[in-house]
Amino acid sequence: MTHISVNVDGTTYDDDVEPRLLLAHYLRDRLGLTGTPIGCDTSNCGACTVDLDGATAKSCSVLAVQADGCEVTTIQGLARDGEWTPLQRAFHERHGLQCGYCTPGMIMAARDLLRENPHPTSDEVRHALEGNLCRCTGYQNIVRAVLDAAGAEVSEEVTA
Ligand code: FES
Ligand code: FES
Repeated sequence: MTHISVNVDGTTYDDDVEPRLLLAHYLRDRLGLTGTPIGCDTSNCGACTVDLDGATAKSCSVLAVQADGCEVTTIQGLARDGEWTPLQRAFHERHGLQCGYCTPGMIMAARDLLRENPHPTSDEVRHALEGNLCRCTGYQNIVRAVLDAAGAEVSEEVTA
């Protein structure tokens, strides 16, 4: 066992973990933060994306011990006092989901994009979300949601 101290969504956790434990499993199974789903376990789908010290990381490809001393933000740490962020609201309003499985990872990746580039084009949104797979929506509404959150004029002709 290895001791880690990690701040997740504003709370610091001190835990002893197996060195091989994945961060995704630590978040879900140890901390009960099941808002971060595991879609593939092979770092392909992006569903498990979290913010790790200010950059996105696929939590199924990071060991919990690598998060020692880090700040992790999950989808569950975004809303404040029950209020969604504009990006979360835009996904809701633009219906950027069907089953919702990919949504936490999409939002975490889009959040990272908007921090770096507050006014992306639709091509830039697509490029930023390349590592996040959705099996349901065809991406149009996801792209619209991100552009909406960025305050862009969103043409209804945005296509996948
Ligand atoms: S579960 Fe991590 S990338 Fe798919
Ligand atoms: S909404 Fe189902 S995988 Fe994206």
